[in-house]
Amino acid sequence: NPTSTTTSQEHPLYVESSENSGHTTGEQLQSVRWSEDDVLELLDQRALPNEINFLRLTDVQDVWQAIYDMVVRGAPAIGITAAYGVIIGIRNDQVVQVEEWLRQVEQHAAYLATSRPTAVNLFWALDRMTARAHELANTEVPLEQLNEQLLQEAIAIHREDEEICRQIGEHALTLFSDGMGILTHCNAGGLATAKYGTALAPIYLAKERGISLKVFADETRPVLQGARLTAFELQQAGVDVTLICDNMAAMVMQKGWVQAVIVGTDRVAANGDVANKIGTYGLAVLAKAHNIPFYVACPISTIDLNTPSGDLIPIEERHEKEITEAFGKRTAPEHIQVFNPAFDVTPNELVTAIITERGIVKSPYHISLKEIFE
Ligand code: MRU
Repeated sequence: NPTSTTTSQEHPLYVESSENSGHTTGEQLQSVRWSEDDVLELLDQRALPNEINFLRLTDVQDVWQAIYDMVVRGAPAIGITAAYGVIIGIRNDQVVQVEEWLRQVEQHAAYLATSRPTAVNLFWALDRMTARAHELANTEVPLEQLNEQLLQEAIAIHREDEEICRQIGEHALTLFSDGMGILTHCNAGGLATAKYGTALAPIYLAKERGISLKVFADETRPVLQGARLTAFELQQAGVDVTLICDNMAAMVMQKGWVQAVIVGTDRVAANGDVANKIGTYGLAVLAKAHNIPFYVACPISTIDLNTPSGDLIPIEERHEKEITEAFGKRTAPEHIQVFNPAFDVTPNELVTAIITERGIVKSPYHISLKEIFE
């Protein structure tokens, strides 16, 4: 268990550390925590699976940086973190008027919204925080209680996500049966959410209920969320998981080992086009070629009816070093041109179904996605 604690002066965000050696199966690790002493604690996902470090954040700039650097990642977890980030920001401000408080809340939200562009949950959570701040500012709540009241909204976003993921898992599990092989990409598990995950939620529920699934986890180049995070958290939970390189998915399908693909998403456009970790589109094409269903699991907060189609989803491009360096070494020639998009868009016609907390949605998505909000 991650109990032994050391501190380091070298890392400005670093407060708590523990070697992973003793950590075996048990309770899922939480990627985001609001501590008893009112500090935001983030599991440093960059250090997994080798180390379990929690960073304690008390400054809104550090929260921005943690999202940007992918200390915390995964659409729902980013949203939860940003909601707490607003509280961290406003708590450090000296405001003397309610109007000023509201302006500052909006400013912190606008700042945090610039940390990453693709996952719509970030903007959804920040909009929810600012909407609640407006409500509070229009009530008789005294100025000194506003931060505490707004914190309750961040806590609600966090807690609700756990229940939502469980419901996604319940719906998704109706699509799986004992003995099936399931392939997943990136990490849409407990580490990317409050608990359970989206794409991994049915796998955890299956495990709880004695339904045996064989999971294949793509390593997910270049940041290796599949190898470092999905393989780690499923192994911790005692799930039968096999790690493969991204370029092995076709062969695994050809061998008949995969009966369904399930992934998470960062944003679903109104027409059902799906933005997710780079490589997802290729998997969807492969699934179609092998006549395997391709499922996408997400909370409805990931569905963006304001973005008509996938080509309008902003796709983050990340630093070239993610591709030109590995294992602590340079793995490509100096000055090579690099293209490093973090996400791609899978066209809706390749998506068999989208599984939300409200149920399973199928094509025609421009109608069915609208209906689940009604
Ligand atoms: O760049 P990341 O690691 O934040 O990308 C994460 C993904 O692509 C996930 O599949 C997505 O956010 C869904 S998480 C439930």
